[in-house]
Amino acid sequence: MPPFRSPMAIDAFAPAKINLTLHVTGERADGYHLLDSLVAFADVGDRISLRPSAALSLQVTGPEAAGVPVDDSNLALKAARFFGAGGGAIALEKNLPAAAGIGGGSSDAAAVLRAFSDMTGREIPAGASALGADVPVCLRAGAVRMAGIGDLLSPVPPLPPLWCVLVNPRLVVATPDVFRALAQKANPPMPEAIPAFATAPALGAWLKGQRNDLEHTAIRLQPRIAVVLNTLATLPGAMLHRMSGSGATCFALFADDAAARAAATRLSHEFPGWWVRAAALS
Ligand code: C5P
Repeated sequence: MPPFRSPMAIDAFAPAKINLTLHVTGERADGYHLLDSLVAFADVGDRISLRPSAALSLQVTGPEAAGVPVDDSNLALKAARFFGAGGGAIALEKNLPAAAGIGGGSSDAAAVLRAFSDMTGREIPAGASALGADVPVCLRAGAVRMAGIGDLLSPVPPLPPLWCVLVNPRLVVATPDVFRALAQKANPPMPEAIPAFATAPALGAWLKGQRNDLEHTAIRLQPRIAVVLNTLATLPGAMLHRMSGSGATCFALFADDAAARAAATRLSHEFPGWWVRAAALS
């Protein structure tokens, strides 16, 4: 481990990951699934701060900190060890619900890797997918197409200005359970080329022809996800509603910031138990 380059704390943002599409195209012999997904990132997320310290440590604060482990099972510490960090005081402000289909843990791991890289001047080692299938995509933190088991990334045209409302109904869905219960594992991929879209409605119309293949199975395991999706469908200005990842977080897409914020305000009043955020996507 080279010495720390910076005596200052390094801050890194861990944005929510949104699967605008999630096609399951097959299953590997080891049980992992082959995916084809258009991934975007929100401007809401967790925050990491890394301070030089002889010992490696993790402190978790924030509105979603309850229940988040601070021991070696936390992906933030796993990421530090993967980087080869002997020391470093990691402070994690947890704003995203855990096990929610928006990549919270993976995005935290990616932010920790970026912070250690910034602090030491050393590159992030290859093979970050060993930490979790979503970690490589979270290292990108910008719209990208994800294939393989999540480790094959290819560029996509920049997204048009786009906003969303994210809703988590406070249901936990375990990703392995959803994949295991999935009846149809070999579904068609997205078209070979993802076109450039000049406007949000054009992107929304295209996305309507795509899918999240985990949605039906997640609803079977947690029927209230259907209530969330049906509610999102009624929001004025919503172009598309869909589940992200293996759930239970769902999103609706909007062509303007004001409509997304109005939708979030309305949902927060109607469903005070739900986690609701308006966000810009990129
Ligand atoms: O890699 P990660 O720990 O994030 O994956 C969690 C679980 O999700 C895996 O154990 C596996 O059951 C499932 N999974 C999958 N195919 C993928 C990614 C995840 O089956 N491409």
